[in-house]
Amino acid sequence: MEPHVFPKDRYARIPYRRCGNSGLKLPAVSLGFWQSLGEPGHEDVCRACCYEAFDHGVTHFDLANNYGPPPGNSELVVGKILCDMPRDELIVSTKAGYTMWPGPYGDWGSKKYLVASLDQSLRRLGLDYVDIFYHHRPDPDTPLEETLGTLDLIVRQGKALYAGVSNYNGQQFQAAVETIRAHDWTPLVIHQARYHMLARGVESDLMPHTRAAGTGIIAFCPLAQGILTDRYLDGLPPDSRQGRRGQAGRDWHQKLQADGTWEKVRKLNALAAGRGLTLAQMTLLWLLRHENVVSVLIGVSGVEQLRENISAVQAPPLTANELAEIETILGG
Ligand SMILES: NC(=O)c1ccc[n+]([C@@H]2O[C@H](COP(=O)([O-])OP(=O)(O)OC[C@H]3O[C@@H](n4cnc5c(N)ncnc54)[C@H](OP(=O)(O)O)[C@@H]3O)[C@@H](O)[C@H]2O)c1
Repeated sequence: MEPHVFPKDRYARIPYRRCGNSGLKLPAVSLGFWQSLGEPGHEDVCRACCYEAFDHGVTHFDLANNYGPPPGNSELVVGKILCDMPRDELIVSTKAGYTMWPGPYGDWGSKKYLVASLDQSLRRLGLDYVDIFYHHRPDPDTPLEETLGTLDLIVRQGKALYAGVSNYNGQQFQAAVETIRAHDWTPLVIHQARYHMLARGVESDLMPHTRAAGTGIIAFCPLAQGILTDRYLDGLPPDSRQGRRGQAGRDWHQKLQADGTWEKVRKLNALAAGRGLTLAQMTLLWLLRHENVVSVLIGVSGVEQLRENISAVQAPPLTANELAEIETILGG
């Protein structure tokens, strides 16, 4: 096969935003490999998505030790693709914090687990270092000093360039920042948080702390796993993320019907259409209205979705009127 040629104008195709007070810039849209793309049998579509993303200046690929399924498979699949891409032009992240192997050393936030997990991730990815290493979720039992001291160690060893946390609430994040300052450890440049129109807790709980600390937020599941797109408006497509769950997916769809979510999504969809946008695009623009949101971390099951989502950044920002209309729909 002919090697893929990445267009020379790729860096003009997307804006880059500074991650908090750090020197790291991320594309406004980043690509994650939690589901779909990292599954066995999806290698070709994964490669096509990596190339399509980078063609459009999407330099940031997000992974975790447990992404696949099975856990670890996304790193294996993406690792094979990264060999054919310019490493120094990419920001590759991975994480540890969820169950990876049996016993007391394969989960949460101990030094033993984090160090072993990152070494495994680097082997799967075929890399000497990742750009960002995250602690994936707070650990109620391990002292914060141990987890954060390990992130510092990993950066000093050169196995990661930057450190971040994910799923820490405002109070936990603030405690982490104070612990790091007290020890003069590597700062947290990024917080990976669930944030979309239907899950807005971070606005009041986390953002005041990340702003004050000079830490950027990258918003994961920005499309609410597909709810905030036109994917489910005509029912449950069998090939969709939820459709593939069978009865569990049907129950999920009915629950969102009963609690009025689909009605809101329909109204949002109409508002987006009136503006010449798809709902997915309007949703991403809505998140990017915050300066503290450095990037929206999307998932896709194919190149068409990726193209549609990335092109959101070409549209002008949402107006005050449009933002107010969205608030009315969400509040209603
Ligand atoms: N830190 C954490 O704890 C954590 C947790 C979850 C995720 N993440 C990160 O966030 C990334 C994104 O998560 P996510 O995949 O749930 O994000 P998402 O962007 O909210 O949802 C992605 C899904 O939405 C559907 N979709 C995307 N674009 C679409 C479009 N234009 N039109 C119609 N449907 C569209 C696709 O569903 P179909 O598959 O049905 O086509 C796709 O798989 C992950 O890959 C991971 O990197 C982090």
